[in-house]
This record gives sequence, C-alpha cells and structure tokens, in this order.
Amino acid sequence: MIHIKTDEEIDIMRRTCRLAAEVLLMIEPYVKPGVTTGKLNDICHDFIVSRGAIPSPLNYKGFPKSICSSVNEVICHGIPCDDRKLRNGDVVNLDITTYLDGYHGDTSRMFYVGSPRARAAKLVETCREALQLGIAAVRPGGRLGDIGAAIQKFAEGRGYSVVREFCGHGIGKNFHEEPQVLHYGRPGNGIELKKGMVFTIEPMINQGQPHLRILPDKWTAVTEDGSLSAQWEHTICVTGDGCEVLTRLDGKTPF
Ligand code: MF3
Ligand code: CO
Ligand code: CO
Repeated sequence: MIHIKTDEEIDIMRRTCRLAAEVLLMIEPYVKPGVTTGKLNDICHDFIVSRGAIPSPLNYKGFPKSICSSVNEVICHGIPCDDRKLRNGDVVNLDITTYLDGYHGDTSRMFYVGSPRARAAKLVETCREALQLGIAAVRPGGRLGDIGAAIQKFAEGRGYSVVREFCGHGIGKNFHEEPQVLHYGRPGNGIELKKGMVFTIEPMINQGQPHLRILPDKWTAVTEDGSLSAQWEHTICVTGDGCEVLTRLDGKTPF
C-alpha cells in the first residue's frame, strides 16, 4: 500500500530532508585527496547526531555504518572504511539518510576528489541531468513509468546503461516503502502519481554494462565490468501541480 502523506507529515519530512541535504553541504569541503571514507562517515555521523537525528543506515538490516560511500566502480551501498585514502580523480557518491521526528529523508550526490577526468565528469553530469529529467516528469495524474522512461532515454542516449537491480522508493515513517521507483520504463506505464506521495528518485548509471555483483561483505554493489558508476538521489513530494524536491536547498544544493 502506498501511504499518502498529510500536510502535517510533509512538514516533518521537509525538516528531515533538509537535514540530510545539509549533511551533504557540510561534508563537501572534507571530500579531498587523502581523506578516508571512514573519516567522512564519522564526520557525518557526529553532525546528524548533534542535530538530534539518527543516521538511518546504521544497523539497518545489519549495515555497519552511518552513511553509504561508493567510490568509482562501486554502484551503491559501499561501506565506509579506513583502508584506502581517496585519490585525485576518484568520483564518490555519499548517500545520506536521516531519521528525525519519526520520518526519514534520503539524498545522495557525487563528489569529485581533486580534478576529475573528462570521461568521469561526463558520466557524473549525465546522471545528474537524468535525475533532473526524472524529477521534471513528476506530476499528479502522471505515471511512475514516465519517470523511469525519461531517465533511461537520456542515459542510454548518451551511451550509458541504467542499473536495474536497485530502484527509488517510497519513504516516510519507513526508510523504504512502496512504491518502487524504477529508473527505466515506458511513459504511461505504472501506477498513477497522486498528491501527497513521497518517494526518492536515485538513478545509478554505468559507463559500461548495467550488470553488477555484490562483494563478499554482502553490501557493496560493483559494476561487473569494472566500469565507473554514478548516482544522484533526491526525495520528492507530489504536489497539486507538480512536485517539490524536499532534499533541495534552494541556491545551495548543486541543483
Ligand atoms: N540510502 C540508500 C537508498 O537510497 C539505502 C541504503 S541502505 C543501507 O535507498 F543499509 F545500505 F544503508
Ligand atoms: Co539514499
Ligand atoms: Co533511497
């Protein structure tokens, strides 16, 4: 069942989503060559807790850390660690989910470590634009498939592939709720979007083939062919005439 949020619930979700977005702003200056993802995890954890919230990933189905950090060929669910320092030219996704006043807010973005190679930057910017197009397809009376279709058409048109195994999701009192928001599909397919639905859109776009494998840690998803992968994520609310991006801080978030 898809839970339609009341105006009061959406007010609370604005706060938890704003906090998640603020974590991404706060952490940006720390994402530099030489830092470990373990250190980035600890800084984000302390910031979230200092704001009276809980990092949703911590202990979620056994996930051991407070954020996900996915470097280069890691598609998603990378576990922060202190083994390897980030290097100039790496691209990394930091995925932040906060639990505040009983509701979750979920957002992620790519960061360049030092200066990106042109090929990596093109992938990252394409993924960001794909999310933007997905968001632009959200309106009451529209269909879930409109979102996936917009993302798939754009990403594949640039010669990239869309990961199938993971999708966006409804969000609210639960980290993951119905519906599943696929990042591929056909316009007009899927359930009808209604005012008060809140869900994430979080396309994962690969430079090479769409296929993945999971590392022995049972979490880290990597591209099977070792090619780079990018992901951006926002939490969206369907409004009376379109949508509101709850994890966007106007003028401050990258888009
Ligand atoms: N934040 C991820 C998402 O966008 C989910 C992470 S689950 C975790 O849905 F356990 F790995 F944290
Ligand atoms: Co997320
Ligand atoms: Co999500």
